[in-house]
Amino acid sequence: MVKEVPALHELKHYSVMCEEVLEHLDLQPGNRVLDCTVGGAGHSSAMLNRIGADGFLWGIERDPRTLERARKRLEETGHPFQLIHGNFAELEQLAEQSGIVALDAVLLDLGTSIFQLREAERGFSFMEDGPLDMRMNPDEDEPSAADVVNTWSETDLRDLFRTLGEEKFAGRIARVIVEKRRREPFTRTVQLADTIAGAVPKRDKIHPATRVFQALRIAVNDELGALERVLPVAVNLLKPGGRIAVIAFHSLEDRIVKQTLRTMSVDCICPPRLPICACQHEPLIARPGKALFPSDKEVSENSPSRSARLRVARRLSPSV
Ligand SMILES: C[S@@+](CC[C@H](N)C(=O)[O-])C[C@H]1O[C@@H](n2cnc3c(N)ncnc32)[C@H](O)[C@@H]1O
Repeated sequence: MVKEVPALHELKHYSVMCEEVLEHLDLQPGNRVLDCTVGGAGHSSAMLNRIGADGFLWGIERDPRTLERARKRLEETGHPFQLIHGNFAELEQLAEQSGIVALDAVLLDLGTSIFQLREAERGFSFMEDGPLDMRMNPDEDEPSAADVVNTWSETDLRDLFRTLGEEKFAGRIARVIVEKRRREPFTRTVQLADTIAGAVPKRDKIHPATRVFQALRIAVNDELGALERVLPVAVNLLKPGGRIAVIAFHSLEDRIVKQTLRTMSVDCICPPRLPICACQHEPLIARPGKALFPSDKEVSENSPSRSARLRVARRLSPSV
């Protein structure tokens, strides 16, 4: 049986844990908010509708095509906003250029959007053939997934698939890739997906290339590096009482969020061997609560949400 694939304009766009984000960011009319990952603008438009005509939303998006689609959706709200094409890793400069200060809320909803996954020519998907690209901003002169697959050593590929993909056949897949690329470099998504499928035994429900594609996407876009850079800057842009919400889909991303927020919430970051505190570290945020997960209902309606974890933190007032 052939499975019907919806056309791009028919795709239903789900914003993961949208109700929880609105509730935990505690948005009020007139608030100033920043969405660092506008994507399909589902969260952005819901936030704009909450903060209304007296509020203001800034939205950052790395992918120029996604940004234009989002603009149309946000215009429909009739409320004031500004979209910024850029990488949230550069938030400090972007905020300075656009006058972003004293925010009530910041959101990061990490990863890719369904539109990127479904546009074959972006090279994110192993289901449809396209160039092996995966760059969120194809205009940037950065290495593509094909560059990684064709030039990294076997050891580096194995380590990449193991750490960022949590792929248990990482060594075997890296070996087969290196063997095959001697005869013909990898240029297409399906070419790589078929090679991976041929290298590993048939196993669980997910496609055998899922984890390798995830690892390549995270590496090509330096997603973990960008996350490490943005979190302290984003917290610094909050006014006292302002909140940050981060939705992560990967355990390594979530670990970065958890540890960074935790470090920002404690009053001492001295090494444990020091007998007395010498760091004079001041907590910037209240100690964050536990991660929140999507409801069973959401997971049944939108299965990719099953791996989402939402963490929220609140900025403290400066001590005097
Ligand atoms: C999961 S989607 C966001 C979906 C969005 N919250 C919604 O409701 O439609 C993540 C988006 O973040 C963008 N993105 C990922 N990394 C980024 C970065 N470093 N800087 C800016 N945008 C980024 C991706 O291009 C993608 O469109």
